[in-house]
Amino acid sequence: MSKSNQSLISPTILIIFGISGHLSKRKVLPALYNLYQNDLLSSQITIIGLSRQKLSIQEIFNGVELNSSTNQRSSATDITGFKDLIKIIQFNPEDPNDYLKLKKYIIDLKNQLNFEKINLLFYLSIPPQVFLSVIKNLGESNLNNLNQEITTKILVEKPFGYDLESAKNLINQTSQYFSEEQIFRIDHYLAKETAQNILTFRRYNPLFQTAWNNQHIKNIEIVATENIDIEGRVEFYEKVGAMRDLIQSHLFQLLALTTMILPENMSETKAIHLARHAILSEIKPFNDSNSIKKNVTRGQYTSYRQEVNNPSSMVETFASIRLTIDNSVWKGVPITLITGKALKDKKTEIRINFGAVNESAENQLTFRIQPNEGIDIKLSVKQPGFNQKTQSAIMDFSYQTTFKGRHQPDPYERVMMDSLQGDNTLFATSDEVLDTWYILQPILDYWKNNNDDLKFYNQGKSENDIK
Ligand code: BG6
Repeated sequence: MSKSNQSLISPTILIIFGISGHLSKRKVLPALYNLYQNDLLSSQITIIGLSRQKLSIQEIFNGVELNSSTNQRSSATDITGFKDLIKIIQFNPEDPNDYLKLKKYIIDLKNQLNFEKINLLFYLSIPPQVFLSVIKNLGESNLNNLNQEITTKILVEKPFGYDLESAKNLINQTSQYFSEEQIFRIDHYLAKETAQNILTFRRYNPLFQTAWNNQHIKNIEIVATENIDIEGRVEFYEKVGAMRDLIQSHLFQLLALTTMILPENMSETKAIHLARHAILSEIKPFNDSNSIKKNVTRGQYTSYRQEVNNPSSMVETFASIRLTIDNSVWKGVPITLITGKALKDKKTEIRINFGAVNESAENQLTFRIQPNEGIDIKLSVKQPGFNQKTQSAIMDFSYQTTFKGRHQPDPYERVMMDSLQGDNTLFATSDEVLDTWYILQPILDYWKNNNDDLKFYNQGKSENDIK
């Protein structure tokens, strides 16, 4: 039992497929533990972990790094209390009988807990190859809609398809068993505190509201570089590459938050979803190979082929794409999305460039999504002295200074909290997913048929040397 009495979450059974997997150990269990420590998990939550192998709770927690620093009161007892919430069941996701057994287990548990109504949340922390068969088995065994006393939702991880066709197929097949409202598609960038602040900044600072358009903004760059390489995820990365891994999901979502028309009611989920979808659907896909050559770059770090043991791999570890939005607010403003692995440093930033007047330095507003989270504005100022020389100066808001000592939830804490509470605002809808594949499909087709545009770069390069 959790320590909390006043919970924000109603009675829930959370079922984690793949509890012993990499993602669960690295993100999901630590996030749940942080919520538990901060008294945010319901006293009525039961977590059921499904694993192919027969594993004890101790084995599941081997290698899980639990961070106790956010709560001074945490102690070994807390960890024990947290572990007590979790039951492990051996489960074969391909065996329909195991779903029937699970169904019985859930119904018995509900009766035993004696709750009138419960939420049932399935977290599919599983490889994409088994995704559809799990969905089908959940549906065929009726676990998608057990009865009126049980509200079922699924929480799913990207990739949401590999291209337009597979994404359509995935969405169609999933919709046979689950309605759009039941599906929570995780994009953990949307759940980052600094990404959520983009909409707040835009809404509550009239200074910028009137300037947020092509009359004032010259260009936008959205950059997410990483200094890590593919970290041994050979099989995954050879199928995915940088464009699908980061741009299709995270960077398009940051673009949507930066450029969408703000709805009247910012707390209405549907309005936020529609606004993100509207702006993404107004991005112009490239319709000829010349525009692709001019606006898209792909690169690969030099040791990649050896690392994946594929001497002819064309998979990009770097990608940049310059887009425009075809509406009256943004027409003519180039928006560049850039990402890459094994680069000089880890940083995610959105740079809004307002241009310069005459010789002055450019005004640039930067959302520092991570690290050193904050927002800065580059201004032109007069240099002290007997002349009128200007130079640039930075005004800086930093989370670390302004919110010193305040807990900043990890994105997975937010993902877990929102899905447990049934709020899907910060999750991607099927429309948004399809919008992004419509934009990327011509590029993927071009890449499939051409192989002379891959730029090689040495590890540790800056994105500016490649793009
Ligand atoms: C994941 C990608 O979605 O995001 C990884 O699959 C990437 O390749 C990661 O490393 C980056 O996330 P963050 O939060 O560390 O920027």
